[in-house]
Amino acid sequence: MDTFTYDLVVTNGICVTAVDVASYDIAIKDEKIVLLAPSGSLATANAKRIIDAEGGYVTPGGVDCHVHLQEPAMFGKGTSSDTYETGTRSAIAGGCTTIIGFAPQQRSEPSLLRALAETHERARDNSYCDYGFHLLMGNPSEQALAELVSLRDEEGVTSLKIYMTYAALQLRDDQILSVLLKARREHILTMIHAENGDILNWLTDQLEARDLVAPKYHSHSRPPVLEAEATNRAIALSSLIANTPILLVHVSDPGATLRIRQAQTNGQPIYAETCPQYLFLTRDDLDKPGFEGAKCVCSPPPRDKESQEVIWTGLRNGTFAVLSSDHCPFNYDDAESGKKTCITHEHPVGQFRHIPNGIPGIETRLPLVFSSRRLPLTKFVEVSSTNPAKLYGLYPRKGSLIAGVSDADIVIWYPESKRPNIVLTNEMLHHATDYTPYEGREICNWPRYTILRGRVVWDRDNGGVLGDKTFGEFLRRGTSSLNQLWETVDEQGEFDVANL
Ligand SMILES: *[C@@H]1O[C@H](CO)[C@@H](O)[C@H](O)[C@H]1NC(C)=O
Repeated sequence: MDTFTYDLVVTNGICVTAVDVASYDIAIKDEKIVLLAPSGSLATANAKRIIDAEGGYVTPGGVDCHVHLQEPAMFGKGTSSDTYETGTRSAIAGGCTTIIGFAPQQRSEPSLLRALAETHERARDNSYCDYGFHLLMGNPSEQALAELVSLRDEEGVTSLKIYMTYAALQLRDDQILSVLLKARREHILTMIHAENGDILNWLTDQLEARDLVAPKYHSHSRPPVLEAEATNRAIALSSLIANTPILLVHVSDPGATLRIRQAQTNGQPIYAETCPQYLFLTRDDLDKPGFEGAKCVCSPPPRDKESQEVIWTGLRNGTFAVLSSDHCPFNYDDAESGKKTCITHEHPVGQFRHIPNGIPGIETRLPLVFSSRRLPLTKFVEVSSTNPAKLYGLYPRKGSLIAGVSDADIVIWYPESKRPNIVLTNEMLHHATDYTPYEGREICNWPRYTILRGRVVWDRDNGGVLGDKTFGEFLRRGTSSLNQLWETVDEQGEFDVANL
């Protein structure tokens, strides 16, 4: 017989949410936070277990809203080096308790529901953390658009992602308009990868004609203006469809950022995401000797120091609503399915056109940004947990510490007195990828404990990963609640072509 009042108590922590920093104790029962109480008052509570945070910060579990795992190869030879199992194991070790992955619909597949069912197969009983899916739409067929209602009402999927680049996925402007119109009617949030695919193909041909194919030319093939142009176009298309809300994913460029800011100032429902690679890497990282630069090849490419500063400012001042990892891992030293698939006898440093695009980062996202001390802690929680939960319909179950309401997803950081000084190495990490782009960086704090629905799944000093791959649950998501998104949008009325 269970005679404990609580399953778990976290005492003596400094709790940080998106709105405040305050010392209080947290009591957990049946996977939920059930009570917040004065600091130290639960130190002797009748609980199965009591964790003394020793004055360390306590934050809601991280929500990583942009994660690619175990997706079928869509862009050429590379295949993801992480499965749901290894990617989510890495997530919890880095303080992340919820991810939203992608259910990819291939261009040859008319149905979104089928793409979703296949993705469920890969993730079921194979995830250490809770997870949801965005539909990655490769084919906006009539059938696909008609399925949005069932996706929302029956499947708990309320967002989709479209691309303005990549041969296998690039949509034309008229296709984008059809998606936006339907998404607006059904209250589905559209995420857009904004890079001009036609320009980048043309530039790639130009570079290859001059035999400029080393990894660093990836950056030359995607200069900032190509992101700024596509971002501007996405915003224009959204405005045409009576201000359909859109979220611009992984923004790296100041020009794109400025355009987003202007649209927000004008009252358009334009949201934006950025990622650690645009805060901590630059194009110089692509210019390492030999093929080494391929480790940092992702799209858009990392920019320069000045751009990093603009992105930090945008994170602090609300231009960016969310900070995700865009974890999209490929092994480096792997000629079968990793970065080195593009190395041939003829091209000993590969051909940037064929380097699988993407980098790992699911585990390092929170520690890197937390230890940088460049965001107020409340802002750190807001962009890495609370806003992702609100934007994608998971709030307040996820992204907060509300008694009686929130899941007991909690990260406990080291107190100042026990702060570890960590030099990041790939061996420390829990993904199945053979490198981290952040090798050698100094990090001054790390999640000491990660708690998922009341269970300690990561204890850095005593056992490391304690969770298991059947504990993560699929999350059915509601519609976006950030800024009462749909209420505000609906006030502007339906799209009517006669009113343009
Ligand atoms: C917010 O940050 C963006 C991006 O750095 C910048 O363009 C904008 O001027 C900033 N706005 C304010 C009000 O500080």
